[in-house]
Amino acid sequence: SIERTLVLVKPDGVARNLSGEVLARIEAKGYTLAELKKVNATREQLEAHYAEHAGKPFYEPLVEFMLSGPVVAAIFEGHRVIEGFRSLAGTTDPTTAAPGTIRGDFGRDWGAKVQQNLVHGSDSVESAEREIGIWFA
Ligand code: CMP
Repeated sequence: SIERTLVLVKPDGVARNLSGEVLARIEAKGYTLAELKKVNATREQLEAHYAEHAGKPFYEPLVEFMLSGPVVAAIFEGHRVIEGFRSLAGTTDPTTAAPGTIRGDFGRDWGAKVQQNLVHGSDSVESAEREIGIWFA
């Protein structure tokens, strides 16, 4: 069935001028862009977005990283877009993400305390609807 997913180009991706490349890959795969904006996230938004990671060792560095610059937030639509985008993004660790994926082609470990991995994508229908409410209230 038709799904929606929240995609974020994280501050590393925006700073490296990769927003268009990321969006182009998703569109070229055949998904439809429904909403798009560039935003400076607030701590409140990020605490809501990353609630499931609260208390983990990378949580505070992750929030600080996401506050370090603007992000591009998008809603994409299509059949199975949630797993489709996660496949385009590649696995979490950009050093070992498969070449051909966004993280595998453009990411690596920069020695920071958090994985700077260029993009976020919702992991389920429930997460997508929750996250869309946070970024497109
Ligand atoms: P994301 O898919 O946005 O979800 C949580 C983020 O936390 C993840 O991308 C990474 O940026 C970061 N992350 C997840 N696991 C780790 C880890 N083990 N160490 C550092 N950062 C992590």
